[in-house]
Amino acid sequence: MTNPSPTAPASTAGGCPAGGAPGAVPLGGADSGTEPQALYRTMRREHGPVVPVELPGGIPAWLVIGYRELHQVTSDGELFPRDVSLWNQWGRVPEDWPLLPMVGQPMPSIYFTAGAEHRRHAEMVGPALEGADPFEIRSHCEQLADRLIDGICSRGTADLIAEFAVPLPVLVLSRLVGFPDAEGADIARVLGDLADGGAGAQEAHARFGEHMRRLVAAKRSIPGEDVTSRMLAHPERFTDEEYALDLMAITAAGHLTTADWIGNSMRLMLTEDQFAAALSGGRHSVAEAMNEVLWEDGPTQILAGRWAARDTHLGGRNIHRGDMLLLGLGAANADPHIRQQFPSQGGRPGQGGNSAHLAFSHGEYRCPFPAQEIAETIARTGIEILLDRLPDLELAVPARDLVRRPSAFLRGMTALPVRFTPVRTTGDPS
Ligand code: HEM
Repeated sequence: MTNPSPTAPASTAGGCPAGGAPGAVPLGGADSGTEPQALYRTMRREHGPVVPVELPGGIPAWLVIGYRELHQVTSDGELFPRDVSLWNQWGRVPEDWPLLPMVGQPMPSIYFTAGAEHRRHAEMVGPALEGADPFEIRSHCEQLADRLIDGICSRGTADLIAEFAVPLPVLVLSRLVGFPDAEGADIARVLGDLADGGAGAQEAHARFGEHMRRLVAAKRSIPGEDVTSRMLAHPERFTDEEYALDLMAITAAGHLTTADWIGNSMRLMLTEDQFAAALSGGRHSVAEAMNEVLWEDGPTQILAGRWAARDTHLGGRNIHRGDMLLLGLGAANADPHIRQQFPSQGGRPGQGGNSAHLAFSHGEYRCPFPAQEIAETIARTGIEILLDRLPDLELAVPARDLVRRPSAFLRGMTALPVRFTPVRTTGDPS
């Protein structure tokens, strides 16, 4: 593979030079993502810290895989805002482009605004999330985890992804934003249909919006102790559509990422001897496995992204105004420049409890700190309850048969089949 010239001129005025550059790495096809670390190593060797990539349909972008370069990009929200409206490829992106739902389109929500408007949303959403009482979150998790385990515990076998890791976060998040449980179950179905893509996804997206608009109206008339009511009580005014879009962003950003954190942590504990102590009640080891996952096997491997506000240089590359930068969060965590600083831990920073990973990104657009804490509480409580209730949990298939979702962007398992000694339900109908 030839190394494109780091100073190659843009192929079209203002266009991303990665496109058409010899050696641009194809990314985002159906087969990508199952062995990302090997791919990152090859990219690093052949292209350095900022890699020209080609997305489906020949759409060019830069993938930032150096820890230092990723830190630089995410720290400078003015030069590299998360502002999709700057993209210099809009003229080439077809309406049915498969990555469009992930890249998004300009709309007035926390996730798709930039600069001052983004800060206005973030200053309303952050405190509303922070207001959630950690004991209450834990208690919701315990109840909902118990309920899910009641559904599988007398069988002796289960798929921990479909029957536990995926439903738990969305059910908890639905309660936190203020839905009654029956509606939470429908939100879980809606998000499942959205993830499946295809024709059903559009209808699911419409249903998702309707749920949130109804919730905003309900909390406007009768406020409660929930995220939505706290958003509405914030002194800065937003339209009902903006509140609904922010609620969609919160739920969509939190549910699969937290599900994958649970799934990837369970996989680690079930497959690696070093983390197996957690299975027999080592609570400290649950936290260690979860931290290890954020370094080695993080839920968001690649994120779209950032867009350059003007021509600039990054990692020896000429970046043009409007170029898309994909954040290689998983790759940056594996950057040898970082790894070599932890020789006594075999180059695995997570094992000393170090949390300087980029799994939640960094800078003004990063995952909000209270959201990170909510994710941590859901994942840790869920795993602890699971291990308390099903203490002899083991894999039901050889580890080599476990299958990753075929995505370069979000890292999770398609299934995690387990077996255990059947036990009785809690008999707690709450
Ligand atoms: C393991 C779980 C999670 C991971 C790995 C994760 C990761 C991320 C990442 C990578 C971003 C984008 C940051 C950027 O553009 O720089 C993000 C944004 C966001 N996340 Fe999370 N997240 C998780 C859980 C959650 C949860 C549980 C919630 C809600 C309670 C949440 C709410 C949000 C929101 C609202 C944003 C947009 C923030 C902004 O634009 O200011 N996330 N998250």
